[in-house]
Amino acid sequence: MYILSPSLLGADFKILGSQIKETEKAGAEYLHIDVMDGIFVPSISFGMPLIKSIRPASRQFFDVHLMIVNPERYIGDFVKSGADGITFHLEASENPKEVIDKIHAEGVQAGISIKPATPVEEVYPYLPFVQMVLVMSVEPGFGGQAFIPESLDKIRQLREYIDANDLSVRIEVDGGIDKENVRKVIEAGADIFVAGSAVFKEPGITENVSCFMQAFKEYTF
Ligand code: DX5
Ligand code: ZN
Repeated sequence: MYILSPSLLGADFKILGSQIKETEKAGAEYLHIDVMDGIFVPSISFGMPLIKSIRPASRQFFDVHLMIVNPERYIGDFVKSGADGITFHLEASENPKEVIDKIHAEGVQAGISIKPATPVEEVYPYLPFVQMVLVMSVEPGFGGQAFIPESLDKIRQLREYIDANDLSVRIEVDGGIDKENVRKVIEAGADIFVAGSAVFKEPGITENVSCFMQAFKEYTF
C-alpha cells in the first residue's frame, strides 16, 4: 500500500487550510510537516503553533519530520499539537533508542531519518524499534532540490535488509520526488513518498496528486 505525504513546505501559506484539504480530498493519506531549527539545518520553518492550528483542517496522518537538534526536548509538545508520527534524525541524537522510546511513550509512531551522506547500515540497529525509516534524497533544509540518484541504492539496500530480517518498518523517501521519478523510487522499494514542489506546483494539487495515485495503482496488484 503506497502512501503520498505532501510536504507542507511547498504549500501556499496564504491559503494553507484549503490547500491541505485539497491534498486530502485528492487521496494523500499523510501530511508531511518539516520542522527546522536553523541549527541542524540552515533554515527555520515552523513549529508547534502552526501544527496545532492546522490540525482541525484535516484527518490526514500528521507525519512530523524533525530537523532539529535535541529532538527529545520537544516530543511531548509535538504530540499535543497533533502529530501522529514523529521522525527524528539519527545524526541529531546521541541516544536514538531513548528518543524512540520517548516517542512511543507519548503514544505515536516513531521514525528515524538519515541524511544523504549517512550509510544505511547506521540505522540497522534501530529498525526493530521504529515504524518508519526516512531516507533523505536531498540534503535536508530546503524544498525544491533535485533528487540525488544514489538514494535509490540506499532504498534498495534497506528494502533487502528489512525483508531479509522480516521487519515491519516502512520506508519513506523525502526530497526531489516528482511524477516522473516516482516509479524508480517505487521500484527501489519505498512505501511512503514525500513530495512538496511536485504536489503544490501548477497545474494544481488535485491533478498533481492524481498523477502520484496513478503511479501507485500501476504497482498495486
Ligand atoms: C527538505 C524537506 C522536504 C522538502 C521536500 O529538508 O525535508 O520534506 O519539503 O520538498 P520537495 O519535494 O520540493 O523536494
Ligand atoms: Zn521532510
